[in-house]
Amino acid sequence: MKPITRRKLFLLGTSTTILALGTHQVIKKLQSSNNNFSNKSYALNSQNIISSQNGLLETTLEASYQEVPLGNQNAYLLTYNGQVPGPRLEAKPGDKVRIHFVNNLSQSTNLHYHGLHLPPTGKGDNVFLEVKPKEKFTYEFDIPTKQTGGINWYHPHLHGLVAEQLSGGLAGLFIIRDQLDEIPEIKAAKEEFLVLQDFFLDENGNLLPSNQMPLMMGREGNVITVNGEVNPSFSMPENGLLRLRIVNASTSRFYNLSLEDHPFYLIANDGTTLEQPIELSEILLTPGERIEVLIKGDKNPQSYQLVSLPYNRGSMGMMGRGRMGGGMMGRGRDNIENNGPIPLATINYENSVSPLNLPTELMPISPLPKPQTTRQFSLNHGMSPGVGMAFLINGEAYQPNTVQTQVKLNTVEEWEVINTGVMDHPFHVHTNKFQVISRNGVPNAYPTWKDTILVRRGETVRIRIPFEDFTGKTVYHCHILDHEDLGMMGSLLINS
Ligand code: C2O
Ligand code: CU
Ligand code: CU
Repeated sequence: MKPITRRKLFLLGTSTTILALGTHQVIKKLQSSNNNFSNKSYALNSQNIISSQNGLLETTLEASYQEVPLGNQNAYLLTYNGQVPGPRLEAKPGDKVRIHFVNNLSQSTNLHYHGLHLPPTGKGDNVFLEVKPKEKFTYEFDIPTKQTGGINWYHPHLHGLVAEQLSGGLAGLFIIRDQLDEIPEIKAAKEEFLVLQDFFLDENGNLLPSNQMPLMMGREGNVITVNGEVNPSFSMPENGLLRLRIVNASTSRFYNLSLEDHPFYLIANDGTTLEQPIELSEILLTPGERIEVLIKGDKNPQSYQLVSLPYNRGSMGMMGRGRMGGGMMGRGRDNIENNGPIPLATINYENSVSPLNLPTELMPISPLPKPQTTRQFSLNHGMSPGVGMAFLINGEAYQPNTVQTQVKLNTVEEWEVINTGVMDHPFHVHTNKFQVISRNGVPNAYPTWKDTILVRRGETVRIRIPFEDFTGKTVYHCHILDHEDLGMMGSLLINS
């Protein structure tokens, strides 16, 4: 646990405006794509899949600082097995997993398996473990048979260092394959994975130190990558279906996704399949969230841009200078976000195939029973005794030795998550996923399971969680990971 230092807070207040404005120029320069260069290392990355064999997924995963190709340049990043993003792990429900984790970083770290339903203790999805520099740890767990197919991911989760390590590049996919992949239309679709990351780099590809970043807003990089590439190309089978499986592995950046002339057909949310595809023209993907969409190749066979449209996620105002609201920092950031769409990837039509229709039925979702308990969690920032400015849940900053919430195994609870602040917060719960009930009193348009849900400023979101299978201490937090590191996390004890 690293406390917020005075120095960090001081820097927050002084450097942000200038940096925010300066960043935009760098983005423009670095985002100008160079597709010849792109395809080479993408091909390399896509080969790096580690799958379970005969019911066992066993691998070594080494975290280290390395020079890697990133977009049009080389960068010095934090890597898993020398790659950014890390290798894609694939397993099936019921498989055993053994990960020999080696920490060759200069800081302590650990692993979290975001989206997997695992014991939060022992050698499982234990975010309280600390793997010190040069140390090893073997994670060992079974993927529950009830874990459904979908996109999950792994990333570091040592409180106080999460944002720094994730924004350095540490993230990888953890895919569960099951019946979803067997739905005929989905099986016939062309599958692509998109790991969205952003990096705050200087011109030589070195990570800029966090004291030069607007941590209160949540750091956003000046280089945006998809699978470590800047604006890579993907091919779309003409008349066919393209299945894009996307994770927002950025520390704080929101992606407001849109594909030129093509609607998205959303088939899965976080790690879980929907009942029917839902047609959407834009999808806002906040940090930690995953989506799966199908795209129909029924337009003119040419190239189309996948972009992130401007989105305003709120601002801190003159935070750190003792004044709130309407400050320069806010305006600086809006300049970046409202300056037009950011290109993420190019979709090129290719070889026509026999026409493929969308699936009509996916997977049934049974609604959870009425909750035994209802709780409220209010999200905001403010002063915390002994800490200074912090990010708070119910007025408290995270304290490692206190349990903020206790629940009982085999019960269902309804949580009312209320954002009383001036910035949006994506709220994430470990260990058990939840169903989304309503937003500002309006019932959710379709049944869905999630593990991360955006609560915009001024909103109240109701979610319903079943506590199943595992006891022990776990956490819930804002997935803007700077907010999490600055206190917006609580520990959750699941009692038998
Ligand atoms: Cu991906 Cu606790 O988070
Ligand atoms: Cu998580
Ligand atoms: Cu937040």
